[in-house]
This record gives sequence, structure tokens and C-alpha cells, in this order.
Amino acid sequence: MGHPSITILYGSETGNSQEFAQVLGRKCLYLSLNTVVSSLDNFDLKRLLDVKLLVVICSTTGQGDIPRNGKKFWKFMLKKGLPSDLLSHLSFTTFGLGDSSYAKFNYAIRKIHKRLIQLGAHEFSDRAESDEQSPEGNEGYYAEWERRLLEKIKKLSHHEIDPNTLLPPMNGIVPQTSKFKKITDNVKEVALTRSDLITGIIGANERITSPDHFQDVRRLVIKDPSNSLEYKPGDTVALYPSNDPKDVESLIEDQDWQNIADFPLIIDGPTPTIEGGLVKKLTLRSLLTHHLDIMSIPRRSFFMIAHHFSTDEREREKLYEFSLIENIDALYDYANRPRRSILETILEFHSLHIPVQYVFDLIPTIKPRLFSISSNPSPSTVELTVAIVEYRTIIKRLRKGVCTRWVKELEENDRIKFSIHPNNVKFSSGPLIMVAPGTGIAPVKSIIEQRLELGLQDMYLFTGNRFHDKDFLYGDLWESLASKSQLQLFPSFSRDEKKSYVQDTLYAQSNLIFDLIYNKNATFYLCGSSGKMPIQVRITIETILEDHLGISNEESKSLCLELENKGRYIQETW
Ligand SMILES: Cc1cc2nc3c(=O)[nH]c(=O)nc-3n(C[C@H](O)[C@H](O)[C@H](O)COP(=O)(O)OP(=O)(O)OC[C@H]3O[C@@H](n4cnc5c(N)ncnc54)[C@H](O)[C@@H]3O)c2cc1C
Ligand SMILES: Cc1cc2nc3c(=O)[nH]c(=O)nc-3n(C[C@H](O)[C@H](O)[C@H](O)COP(=O)(O)O)c2cc1C
Repeated sequence: MGHPSITILYGSETGNSQEFAQVLGRKCLYLSLNTVVSSLDNFDLKRLLDVKLLVVICSTTGQGDIPRNGKKFWKFMLKKGLPSDLLSHLSFTTFGLGDSSYAKFNYAIRKIHKRLIQLGAHEFSDRAESDEQSPEGNEGYYAEWERRLLEKIKKLSHHEIDPNTLLPPMNGIVPQTSKFKKITDNVKEVALTRSDLITGIIGANERITSPDHFQDVRRLVIKDPSNSLEYKPGDTVALYPSNDPKDVESLIEDQDWQNIADFPLIIDGPTPTIEGGLVKKLTLRSLLTHHLDIMSIPRRSFFMIAHHFSTDEREREKLYEFSLIENIDALYDYANRPRRSILETILEFHSLHIPVQYVFDLIPTIKPRLFSISSNPSPSTVELTVAIVEYRTIIKRLRKGVCTRWVKELEENDRIKFSIHPNNVKFSSGPLIMVAPGTGIAPVKSIIEQRLELGLQDMYLFTGNRFHDKDFLYGDLWESLASKSQLQLFPSFSRDEKKSYVQDTLYAQSNLIFDLIYNKNATFYLCGSSGKMPIQVRITIETILEDHLGISNEESKSLCLELENKGRYIQETW
């Protein structure tokens, strides 16, 4: 009798669902299951007809949306005319990743789960959803769900493999040192193979915060020489960053990979999803530079494989411990809290020597980063407002964001690859209240510039920054428009003499906000970082509605939800 099979598909925007899919996949391999792990879109959907046991792990992104690497799958699932017994041969379970601070909590996995049932699939084990806002975190929910699922899977398995056995790589790579010549990687100009990416030329990369302010925020102008850009306010640009060549070199040296680093590589087996497509001149160095996220925090799947490659017993034990779910707190203290990177971990465990075939299995791929467009639509240029991520960890090490480090170094006339991602938001031409703390100003600037061009001026802008003179992003522009009565400006500065946050200023303008929303049919547009700010702002709007209408909190909450469903309360947070 052959081994039973399992197909584990993930939809993931920032890698969390992918990580769980990989952890589960590895456990299934040790239970001798023929295991396929793939992104939803990388999986040939015709093969679903042969799948008996399916697991879908999927996050929710945007405002209740399916992640980008699951869109094609979802489009297929929604096809009209699919028979209601299409998947009646299939047993499945699902796990959703979400965050209850978003109104459409875990919508993506709920839609997928429901559709699988509509198409005849049977639930094999209970579904579950995680909530990033809860103290359990994603891991807590996942552990419980995985425990229940594996109990059932073990009943199917005929043979368990000793956990000390090293399994062959899922996505192996083979450097071609014998027949081929060395290749030199052009780190500056990256030739990604996805054909629909746009080649842009950097028109400007200028700092727009004062030089003595702690944070460097950039206005990045990208030009399209072919004049064929198409975008609207609310759309985003995806950038495809590369690692710092110095970091890559230190990994190559540490692992003694110098002799193979610059020879062509072939991928032995399925290619993992790389959104921009593989770089054209594929070598170990270009793979590490452009595709593998060596600066990300190592997760459990890293340690599940890495412990096999340590020659020192104590180090091996430590690496193994970090791979166990019961030691998740120890892993958190080692990796997440001090924000240690994969590179640092490899350098710190001196006895760790990774066979190069395993790098794809060990190191996650670099995900493209999205940036809200901050310019008025134009076929020739697109502008972004980028806050450079640079901070010291609790162990006093300097950390730089993967993408924004790369952005900071871009110079005029550099060529980069990018893509434009349409957003589904539709703005009415009526009054518009915009709440835009920090870089939340980016999409708001785009909509304001477009409305000015269209002669629509009923605009109320609530900005939030630290200091008027240091980081009031595009402050001169807003003050000039306000002085010409082209918009009404309500700035908040949290570190100036008169301290206030956007929610305080909104509340101080209670009468105006109520009148605009309730009597003037205004749209409310909130942009910026996720977390506490959007929650505080929503509570403020609910309170304003309660005060003016004399309604309960329950009633104001459902009024806000109604506004949201009508597209009059729009939140774009990240
Ligand atoms: C729809 C959308 C629109 C966006 N629009 C914009 C925009 O207009 N402008 C913009 O600047 N960004 C925007 N972002 C965010 C952007 O995509 C990137 O996430 C951001 O630039 C950081 O990327 P990075 O690769 O430089 O950092 P990464 O390498 O991904 O590191 C970021 C991580 O570092 C950690 N971190 C950051 N600062 C600290 C600190 N002080 N202490 C401890 N940990 C810290 C956080 O965990 C954070 O998640 C948007 C995101 C989305 C999803
Ligand atoms: C820009 C953005 C939008 C999000 N939108 C939602 C949402 O609408 N509903 C939800 O439940 N969670 C939402 N989340 C939370 C994610 O689902 C959560 O962070 C998850 O762990 C991401 O997993 P991934 O890395 O596999 O994509 C959002 C997160 C981000 C960064």
C-alpha cells in the first residue's frame, strides 16, 4: 500500500501563513505522508481533482482580501457553473490568520472554507482562526489546531520517521561549478524575470523630514520612460528589494561558499513562489542577494532543519529546542524580542554549516513591499512617501528595514523593477474627511491632488506628526492650500508645545465631523499604521455619533459598520 498524501496550500502576504504551512508540511513528511506544500496560486488547480486531503492556511489582507498569492485560486473557485460535487472526493481543513482590529476579521479563510463546502468537500478536522490582537498570538491558536489535526493524520500514517533523520530538501539547488564560467551579479540593476514588471528610473529620492529629526522620510519619484503608467488614488506600488551585498558576502564567507557562490545554479524540484520571478543570472550569490530573506527573524521551520547541520552537540540541542512549539517562549526571547536575523543566527552558531542544497528550505523568500502612491495619476511618473526603518534593538544593534534600506540607497537614474497594484476603493465626489497620521499622508496626497485637478474642494484634512518644523510631511503644501481655502487643515503635533493626536483633534471638531458625516453624506478616509491609531479613531467617530444622536455604543458601532459597508468609512492601514 502506498503512502497517503496531503496537499498544504497557503495564501500569505507577509510570510506568516507560509511559515505554518512549511512547519506542518515537515511534520507530515516525518509521518511518511507524500506532502505537497505550495502557495494557492502556484498549485496547478487541475490537480485538485486528485487531492484527497487538503489543508488551506490563509491570512486576510487589505480590507478583508485574499493575499496576492491566492487571487488566481480564488478566481477559479468563484467560477460560475462549477458543479456542487466538484470536490466531493476531498477532505479538508482550514486555518486562518487575522487581526481583530480589522473590521473584516479573517474574511479570506471564511470565504475559502465556505466555498470548499459549497463545492462538496468534507471537513476532516475542525477549522480554526488566529487573532494577532490576542495574547495567544498566531502560534498559540496554530499549536492547538495542529495538535488536533495531527492526531487525525497519525491514524492514516503507517510509519513515523525518526526525527533525527535528515530529509532531502523540498526545493534543492545545485551549483554548476564544473562546466560553467563564473557570473558577476549586477546588484544595482536587477533583471527579474516576471514579464509584467515595469522598469522605472529614479527621478528623485529626497529627504522630506528635517536633517535633525530622528526619522528619515523620503519622497521617491519613479519615472516610466514608456509613459504607460496607469493608476488611481488608493493604488499601491510594489517594490522588489535586495539585501545589502556586504551581508550576503559575510554569509558566503562564514559558510565557506566562496568557491560556488558565483557559478550558475539550477533548481532541483519545484521552484518556490518568487513574486517578481527569479533573477535572470541565477547564482548562489544572486539568490541570496535578491531572493532569500537572510535579514528576517528565524522562525521554527528554520530551526527544524538547521539543527541537523550543527556539528556541536550543545549547539545542535539548542537549535533543536527552538524548533519545538513548547519552547516558543525561548525562541521569542532569542529571536523575536531582540529581532535577531537569520544571518546573525547562522553567524552565532559557529558549528552550523549548511549544505547549500538546503538554503531554499531554510531561508524564506523576500516579499515585495507595498507603498501607497502619493502623486496625482500620471502616465510618466509615480511618487511614493517612504519612512526609512532604522532602529536599535534591545541588544543595542542597529536594524534596518530590508526594503527601506535599499530605497535609501537608490540614486537618481538608477533603474528598478516595480509593479502597480490597484485598490478597490472608490471615492465619491462629495465631502471628504481625511485622517492621515505619519506616512498615512501618502494616499491622501494623491487623492487631494486629483480632486484639486477635478475642481472638487470639499476636503477636511487631519494630519498627525511629531513637530511642525521637523516632520510635518508636505506641511507647506497643506498650509498653502488651506490659506487659499482649497482645503480645511486640522494638524496635530504630538511633541510640540501644544500636544495632540489626530483623535483629539477630531473630537475637538465634533460638530463639524458629525454634520459632515450625518447631514452632508461625507466619506471618511483613514490611512496610516495599523494597531492602536485606527482603533482610537474609530472609537472617536463612534463617540461623536453617540453624543450627537443620543444613541448607545452598540448603535454607534453598527452605524459605523453601515458607513463602512457603503464605502463611506474607508480604512487603509498597514
Ligand atoms: C497597503 C500598504 C501600503 C503601505 N504604504 C506605505 C507608505 O506609503 N509609506 C511607507 O513608508 N510604508 C508603507 N507601507 C509599509 C511598507 O510596505 C513596509 O512594510 C515598510 O516600508 C517597512 O519595510 P522594510 O522592508 O523596510 O522593513 P522590514 O524589514 O519589513 O522591517 C519592518 C519591521 O521592523 C520592525 N520595526 C520597525 N521599527 C521598529 C522599532 N522602532 N522597534 C522595533 N521593531 C521595529 C517592525 O516589526 C516592522 O514590521 C505600506 C504597507 C502596506 C501593506
Ligand atoms: C495591510 C494589512 C491588512 C490586513 N487586513 C486584515 C483584515 O482585513 N482582516 C484581518 O483579519 N486581518 C488583517 N490583517 C492581519 C493579517 O491577516 C495578519 O497580520 C497575518 O498574520 C498575516 O499573515 P501573512 O503573513 O501570512 O499574510 C492585515 C494585515 C496587514 C499588514
